[in-house]
Amino acid sequence: MIHVQDLQKHYTVSEKEAGFLGSLRAFVRPKTKVVKAVDGVSFDIAAGERVGFLGANGAGKTTTLKMLSGLLHPTGGSVQVAGFTPFQRKTDFLKKITLVMGQKQQLIWDLPAQDSFLVNQAIFEIGDLEFKATLKEFTEILELDGILKKQVRKLSLGERMKCELAAALLHRPKVLFLDEPTIGLDVNMQVRIREFIAEYNRRFEATVILTSHYMADVTALCERIIVVEKGQIVLDGGIDSLMQRAQNKIIKLEFSHLIPRAQLERYGTVQELDGLSAQILIPRAQASQVASRLLGELPIADVTIEDPPIESIIGEIMSEARVNQQNQRIDLEMMEAKP
Ligand SMILES: Nc1ncnc2c1ncn2[C@@H]1O[C@H](COP(=O)(O)OP(=O)(O)O)[C@@H](O)[C@H]1O
Ligand SMILES: [Mg+2]
Repeated sequence: MIHVQDLQKHYTVSEKEAGFLGSLRAFVRPKTKVVKAVDGVSFDIAAGERVGFLGANGAGKTTTLKMLSGLLHPTGGSVQVAGFTPFQRKTDFLKKITLVMGQKQQLIWDLPAQDSFLVNQAIFEIGDLEFKATLKEFTEILELDGILKKQVRKLSLGERMKCELAAALLHRPKVLFLDEPTIGLDVNMQVRIREFIAEYNRRFEATVILTSHYMADVTALCERIIVVEKGQIVLDGGIDSLMQRAQNKIIKLEFSHLIPRAQLERYGTVQELDGLSAQILIPRAQASQVASRLLGELPIADVTIEDPPIESIIGEIMSEARVNQQNQRIDLEMMEAKP
């Protein structure tokens, strides 16, 4: 459904020193530098897949989604979505996709959401029957009753986001690009939005690409995760395969009587010690060996070895990638510094 090969987006930005002299200098001899927002990204996404894009602020997530939906022209590489080249913005392409940006709004501020829906019905040439059926479905799943007739400016952020999503999906697109759809929402509302997206994916077999810097969004909704860092992919894999990347295991213990913390600290990093239960972190390779030592040496009633939560695994990988990139930069600087 989506093919991306060595996709790049470079921005040339002018650098100006502060103050009047800086402005003057920039005017006489403009200084520019290239920002590599997306720096050679490749992936394929099959129809119906739910893929999460994770990465720090400025990693290139939004820029990638904008190229996939045709809002931006790539600097290099190629991109195909549903058989179309996105930046040509053909009507048939636009009917197949949608782009939702949590920070931007599409609904008309002074009108009730249902009026904006009618505008979209006209733009996307949705037949009356289909329009009514879809709206009815969305109203049920998202509980839009009573919200649709209110002026959008009077809705809460969560209510507005539900309407934004409904508006963006009325034409039943096959490919959803969702850029931080839950930003700023409380946890309850985040869960509701997630459930709706999952339901839409199921009913319409839609392909979903979601960015978020809330890892929980991505891990709850996506079966595959792509992590980007400084415009490059540092990880692309199924949630399951991620587990194998974990550096540590968690050993959960139940004691038959109390033991001092210091005694437990000899075995690993104590994450929790609360009465008779404890949790310690052990390097993956040593987990089973440490567990059997614990069983032999301490008064243990129960022991289990678990993988850490997926969030912390991704966190580990992301900080690892950051350290690697820093090291590369230091290497380069040292090479440049040599005469
Ligand atoms: N129009 C632009 N002009 C110059 N630089 C930009 C522009 N848009 C984004 N960037 C830069 O590109 C990088 C990636 O931005 P973005 O894709 O928005 O990241 P993310 O969505 O992951 O936070 C950032 O360093 C950002 O400052
Ligand atoms: Mg962004």
